[in-house]
Amino acid sequence: MRIVIADDYKAMSRMAADEIEELVASDPSCVLGLATGSTPLGLYAELASDFEAGKTSFKDVTTFNLDEYCGLGADNPQGYRYFMNENLFDKVDVAGPSTHVPEGRSGDLDAECARYDKMIDEAGGIDLQLLGLGHNGHIGFNEPCDEFPKGTHVVDLTESTINANSRLFDSADEVPRQAITMGIGTIMAARRVLVVASGADKASIVKKAFLGPVTPEVPASILQFHPNALVIVDEEAAAELV
Ligand code: F6R
Repeated sequence: MRIVIADDYKAMSRMAADEIEELVASDPSCVLGLATGSTPLGLYAELASDFEAGKTSFKDVTTFNLDEYCGLGADNPQGYRYFMNENLFDKVDVAGPSTHVPEGRSGDLDAECARYDKMIDEAGGIDLQLLGLGHNGHIGFNEPCDEFPKGTHVVDLTESTINANSRLFDSADEVPRQAITMGIGTIMAARRVLVVASGADKASIVKKAFLGPVTPEVPASILQFHPNALVIVDEEAAAELV
């Protein structure tokens, strides 16, 4: 695992965008695993503006998002499909049918999880998985627990994640209690992993996850064992690394 410290959020976003654009330039039909949340917004803005400037194209790229809330459909502004359309997919030339987000409104969530893993397999696996880092060390919606979950599965969200995500809803009561997420096994199977973390509030979990013991109680810690993981943090998030 390599950890790179960027001066600030903008520099972190630019470095992460470069990683993705270099991959897409060398392999235009690559498979990207994508994340939502606040942290990748700057990076998605960089990708969109570079596309606008003719510097990159996602025409033949396939994408798989990490996760989606159960019960929220594509038309729900709090849902992750909506987020991705708004912040990236509608701003670049990726083909709509090549973008995948778990179907949170599926009537059979377990079947949806199996379908999602099968689609990833059929696409040849994920070339680069982008990840944000939760305050409790979660990646995707893999919350601290007793063992690392393998494939895509349904999770009960913890109170801390519900509270953290309530900023995007009218109240914590409106945050769905369950989500579909890729498993740790799905994430670890990606050929490359790119983690972005920003801000002083992430400093202690950055240290715990990437310098502390590998344990399912800090799900992101498993990334220390990934053969090709790059963590880009800004100076505030790196504050406890030195
Ligand atoms: C998003 C996701 C989450 C976030 C994490 C950090 O698809 O799976 O694990 O990456 O909660 O969120 P932010 O970036 O908002 O701090």
